[in-house]
Amino acid sequence: MKILVTGAAGFIGYHVCNQLIKNNHTVIGIDNLNDYYSVDLKLARLEQLGINPKNALDFNEYVSSANTNRFQFVRINLEDREQLPKIFQKENFTVVCNLAAQAGVRYSLENPEAYIDSNIVGFLNILECCRNFNIEHLVYASSSSVYGLSSSAQFKTTDVTDTPVSLYAASKKSNELMAHTYSHLFGLRTTGLRFFTVYGPWGRPDMAMFLFTEAILKGKPINVFNNGELERDFTYIDDITTGVVKIIEDDHTDTYQPENLYHIYNIGNNRPVKLMTFIDAIEKELGIQPKLNMMGMQPGDVKKTWADISDLRLDYAYSPDTPVEKGIHHFIEWYKGFYGK
Ligand SMILES: NC(=O)c1ccc[n+]([C@@H]2O[C@H](COP(=O)([O-])OP(=O)(O)OC[C@H]3O[C@@H](n4cnc5c(N)ncnc54)[C@H](O)[C@@H]3O)[C@@H](O)[C@H]2O)c1
Repeated sequence: MKILVTGAAGFIGYHVCNQLIKNNHTVIGIDNLNDYYSVDLKLARLEQLGINPKNALDFNEYVSSANTNRFQFVRINLEDREQLPKIFQKENFTVVCNLAAQAGVRYSLENPEAYIDSNIVGFLNILECCRNFNIEHLVYASSSSVYGLSSSAQFKTTDVTDTPVSLYAASKKSNELMAHTYSHLFGLRTTGLRFFTVYGPWGRPDMAMFLFTEAILKGKPINVFNNGELERDFTYIDDITTGVVKIIEDDHTDTYQPENLYHIYNIGNNRPVKLMTFIDAIEKELGIQPKLNMMGMQPGDVKKTWADISDLRLDYAYSPDTPVEKGIHHFIEWYKGFYGK
């Protein structure tokens, strides 16, 4: 299969590209390499995929090249309405996996524009290209944050999700609505994946796993929001990658029905962990007692996430199996190796 992965230099995008290449697919990865967090980390991920940062193709080089490598990387903005279709024209993709986005709940209070540019305008451009170049399947990242003020103990895809509490969440909910429109109007098969707190090697520096490890190793206090009274359905990256790749590879021929083109799934671990349990496991792994800076609830945040993954189990035999202690061990091993600690 020939697959476009957007956000290829990002945390999840890197892991998905890696697995798709291992499974013998041809992958074109795109990313704008923005500096929301360390560009060096993004470039280091690309290096793992065989892309020497000095040789990363810029758009003009890419369109004129006859490169036949199984993985190519092109630096481009999703918002670029001129350049994006040229990639689709050149490649004839079967599946598009859209993982590029402005991520992060907190940052959406500071820089709302970035969420509209990447997540709304960028996503519209992806939908238009999928429509105009007859893409068979668009798989895209949504988020557990769409559940917002939901009072359900366990989040189900049938829950009403009309109460987002951050612009980030609102942008992800909008993506689902936009995808529905394109499935309905243009027969585009779309699958939205609501990711639940993904962690693991090559993870994001703005997320708890990374922030806690970094601070503890530097002897700095860690910020514990809502006095530790939070629970997250932490999901290990390999479990996420397995699910995403299975969905990309599924040609759906047996169950394909024109009226059944729009899908939404939760993709989580299905075992919420208390924040203090998570911190204890990091402490045990590092052998250092953290200094805790107890804080109030953050605006835009939710108290508990817990994914009902029964649809994904049923349709794709999805069964995440990484205990949080094991996932933390792998992350810390990677972190120490990467940063030479
Ligand atoms: N990591 C999680 O726990 C989590 C949870 C819920 C949803 N998600 C979603 O999953 C997807 C991947 O998340 P991630 O954790 O890998 O984030 P990430 O920030 O590591 O990766 C996103 C990548 O997209 C790129 N990008 C951003 N805007 C772009 C644009 N306009 N054009 C081109 N490239 C652009 C960034 O440079 C980055 O490399 C995102 O859509 C995110 O919202 C992630």
